[in-house]
Amino acid sequence: MALRSFLVAIILSTSFIFLVKAQNISEPVLDISGKALEKGSQYFIVPVSGRSNEGGLAVSSIRNTVDTLVVTQYAQSSMGSSLRFTPVDSNETIIRLSTDLNVKFMSIVFTYNMSTVWTINTTLIPQRYLVAVGGVEGNPGRDTLGNWFKIDKYEDAYKFVYCPGVCETCRPFCGDIGIIVEPNNKRVLFVGSDKPLKVKFEYTTSVITVTKAPPSASNYPDRLPTMSFINVVMCIVIAYLTKVM
Ligand SMILES: *[C@@H]1O[C@H](CO)[C@@H](O)[C@H](O)[C@H]1NC(C)=O
Ligand SMILES: *[C@@H]1O[C@H](CO)[C@@H](O)[C@H](O)[C@H]1NC(C)=O
Ligand SMILES: *[C@@H]1O[C@H](CO)[C@@H](O)[C@H](O)[C@H]1NC(C)=O
Ligand SMILES: *[C@@H]1O[C@H](CO)[C@@H](O)[C@H](O)[C@H]1NC(C)=O
Repeated sequence: MALRSFLVAIILSTSFIFLVKAQNISEPVLDISGKALEKGSQYFIVPVSGRSNEGGLAVSSIRNTVDTLVVTQYAQSSMGSSLRFTPVDSNETIIRLSTDLNVKFMSIVFTYNMSTVWTINTTLIPQRYLVAVGGVEGNPGRDTLGNWFKIDKYEDAYKFVYCPGVCETCRPFCGDIGIIVEPNNKRVLFVGSDKPLKVKFEYTTSVITVTKAPPSASNYPDRLPTMSFINVVMCIVIAYLTKVM
């Protein structure tokens, strides 16, 4: 008898928790103009540390590794590359707090087929969860754990968090995303910082992409190369063709 009421109590309380959880739709993430971030739109990261030497986000190679590029923050005030966020729930049209998302650089295109989707790399610097590129969008589950990030409130702005909820039986390492400074003052995003990178989001309609040459061991540029005239013309032609089709 006691056991039965105990079981009933457990079932009632778990279904209550489930109901509360199901009703708890989290707030939208807002851009600097106060609009909810939309799936498919592009945004620049605006750092809000108050330090004038911090800029937007881009990719870079570190430690002479050329096949894996990490996500870095410009050390000067520069916009960096624009990003797109894709929520795990394919029916969702806006970006909400604390929900699993894919993050993709939109204004960087490699001259060969390399992904610009954020993913975690734990081998580049042993024991460090670095944010790199090379992930895939979608397919939530154990195999894609490293590709899911979240945006949470942080003081008067936001922060990125790694704590994927796309696999119920996984126990992922979780943490806030901050900056680790590598030689050459490269500011690399990593998980587990006690000083999260504080960011805001700025909507952009920019269509101009920067084409990056494949990384080469001899001379990999630290900064996005200035676009040649040919590149600019190509981008405009491609943008035009995409519109026509
Ligand atoms: C709803 O979610 C927010 C943040 O995601 C959390 O702070 C709050 O406690 C939750 N509310 C309930 C009733 O679970
Ligand atoms: C992490 O980077 C190393 C070095 O480039 C690479 O060999 C490895 O495949 C990467 N791991 C993942 C999960 O991308
Ligand atoms: C998305 O919406 C469709 C139609 O309303 C529904 O059948 C489907 O289950 C939804 N998918 C998710 C992941 O909620
Ligand atoms: C580029 O890579 C993506 C993801 O790995 C793949 O789906 C796509 O088919 C590739 N495209 C080409 C042209 O190889």
